[in-house]
Amino acid sequence: MKIVVIGGTGLIGSKTVAILRQGGHEVVAASPKSGINTITGEGLKEAMAGTQVVIDLANSPSFEDKAVLEFFETSGRNLLAAEAAASVRHHVALSIVATDRTDNGYFRAKVAQEKLIKTSGIPYTIVRSTQFLEFLRGIADMSADANTVRISPVLFQPIAADDVAANVADVALAAPRNGIVEIAGPERAPFNEIIARYLRAIGDPRKVVSDPEARYGGGRIEEYSLVPLGEARLGRTGFDEWFRRSRTAA
Ligand SMILES: NC(=O)c1ccc[n+]([C@@H]2O[C@H](COP(=O)([O-])OP(=O)(O)OC[C@H]3O[C@@H](n4cnc5c(N)ncnc54)[C@H](OP(=O)(O)O)[C@@H]3O)[C@@H](O)[C@H]2O)c1
Repeated sequence: MKIVVIGGTGLIGSKTVAILRQGGHEVVAASPKSGINTITGEGLKEAMAGTQVVIDLANSPSFEDKAVLEFFETSGRNLLAAEAAASVRHHVALSIVATDRTDNGYFRAKVAQEKLIKTSGIPYTIVRSTQFLEFLRGIADMSADANTVRISPVLFQPIAADDVAANVADVALAAPRNGIVEIAGPERAPFNEIIARYLRAIGDPRKVVSDPEARYGGGRIEEYSLVPLGEARLGRTGFDEWFRRSRTAA
């Protein structure tokens, strides 16, 4: 089967491409560097020829509210139009758990991306994931003020990128659901405790302060704002195993 992975050079994209190639599929790892750009439209028509499944794993170069919204709207429109013209049979995209019930600029952009998919007429499956374990450092950095990291004690359930990619590949090879599949890590704990555990593990001296008023991505969060409310597929990799593996790989 021919599968195009948009953002095929990224964190989740490169892992998904490897899994699908191992399964014997013809996979195009699409990115601007490989001449396929969902913002300019460059290379999209050619990439879609004979393609059955498209997996959208692209991310915006800027996380600023307006820029990220423009990225996901323009990218989504161009990509879905090219897919419709080529009669692609399944569009898979990676979104975020609680994106439509937690308000911040990045989540709003993902809601806009999901809306374009749902109204495109192309059979689809949206995979909504919790935050990646690989993103913990980025979260600590964006929540830091000098040596203090303020994090709300809401529930948090991060997932390893390897487990995200395995689920995305699995969904892409199954029939379109025309709906949403949620995925999360195997461990649920207070957000501040997980960030503190990560910083301790890497020997980062910054102090994590539990602050119920601390925002996430600029938005307010409450106890269940970042975790699945219903049934979710759980990744296998807990924090300790993920950390051991990430150290070995480094
Ligand atoms: N971070 C989280 O915790 C989290 C949680 C749930 C869902 N997600 C979602 O997961 C997805 C993948 O994230 P990631 O961390 O794997 O992303 P990433 O590592 O930042 O990779 C982004 C990919 O997008 C490509 N890209 C950028 N602009 C493009 C364009 N105009 N046309 C085509 N490709 C373009 C990049 O190509 P180059 O290499 O050429 O720049 C790269 O391959 C995102 O949609 C994100 O919203 C993230």
